[in-house]
Amino acid sequence: MLNSYALRRALSDKKYKKIFVERLTEPLHLNLISAGVALFGSYRAKVAFDLMVRQQYAFPVLFAADEAKKLGLKRIQVLEFGVATGAGLLNLCDCAARTEAETGIAIEVVGFDTGSGMPPAIDYRDMPEYFQEGDYPMDFEALRRSLPGRCRLLIGDVAETIPAYLASVTAEAPVGFISVDVDYYSSAVNTLKVLDGRPEQYLPLLPVYLDDVGMDGANPWNGELLAAAEFNARQPMRKIAPFNLLRSKRVFKNAQWIDRMFTAHIHDHPARTPATAKRAQQAYIPNEYLR
Ligand SMILES: C[S@@+](CC[C@H](N)C(=O)[O-])C[C@H]1O[C@@H](n2cnc3c(N)ncnc32)[C@H](O)[C@@H]1O
Repeated sequence: MLNSYALRRALSDKKYKKIFVERLTEPLHLNLISAGVALFGSYRAKVAFDLMVRQQYAFPVLFAADEAKKLGLKRIQVLEFGVATGAGLLNLCDCAARTEAETGIAIEVVGFDTGSGMPPAIDYRDMPEYFQEGDYPMDFEALRRSLPGRCRLLIGDVAETIPAYLASVTAEAPVGFISVDVDYYSSAVNTLKVLDGRPEQYLPLLPVYLDDVGMDGANPWNGELLAAAEFNARQPMRKIAPFNLLRSKRVFKNAQWIDRMFTAHIHDHPARTPATAKRAQQAYIPNEYLR
C-alpha cells in the first residue's frame, strides 16, 4: 500500500518539480551513484542518498536511534504534531520500522491532531493567508484501521493532549524526534510545550522538523519560527537551533528539508551536565610533529 502511495507521490506535479529543482540540479555522478544505491544499498545508504519517500522523517529517526544507542537506550518515541489524513504519520511508522531493523532500537510513534482539521486562526501570526479553520480534516476510522501496532494517535487540541502524554514519557523511552506540522504559530507555541518536561524524557539533542517555515510569507515574526523564538526566550536551559552544518553533511545539498531541520538542545540533560557527563575514556590528540 505504501509502495503505491510512493509511486503516486513520485508522479505528482509537486514531485516532478522536486525532482527537477532539487535532484537534477545535483552533479550527474551523484545521481548515478544514487541509482546504484536505490537498487543495491542498505537502508542507511538510502537515507544518506535521500532515497526515502519522506526524507525529513527518515533522516531524523535514524539520527535519533543512533544517538539513543550511544546512550545505551533500547527504546525511543518519535512524534508527529499535525496528522491530517495521516500520510506523514504512516511514512513515519515506515521509517520507524526500517530504522528499528537497522539499529535494534525499538521506536514508538505518536501522532497528535484535533481530528477535525485546523482550529480558528488567532491573528496574522497564524498566517491566515495560507491556512484556515477546517483545513485538513481527518477520516479517523480509516486512519485508525491503517495504523501499525507501534503507533498511537492522540486526538484533541495539542494544548489538551500534551500534558497527559508528557506525564507518560519515561527515561527508558525518551522522545527522540518531533515533527511540527500544525501550520499555525498559536498551535506551534502549544506544541513546543512538549519540550517542557523533565530533561531525561528527551534525548540530549533531538531533531525538530519545522514544516511550515518555507513559504514566501513565513518569517521570524510569524508561524513556527516565531513559536521557536518564543520557546527559546522562555526556556533558559532548552534551545531550538538550526541543525548544525546539516547541508555540508549531506550528499545532496539542494533538498529543501535541510532548511526545515532544527535541533532541540536539552542543556539540562544529565548527558550535558558536568557531574554526570563524564566519559570512561579520556580524550587525547596524537601529535606527529612532536620530537
Ligand atoms: C498540514 S496538516 C498536517 C499534515 C501531515 N503532517 C502530513 O504530512 O500528512 C496540519 C494539521 O495540524 C492540525 N492542527 C493544527 N492545529 C492544531 C492544534 N492546536 N491541535 C491539534 N492539531 C492541530 C490540523 O488538524 C491539521 O490536520
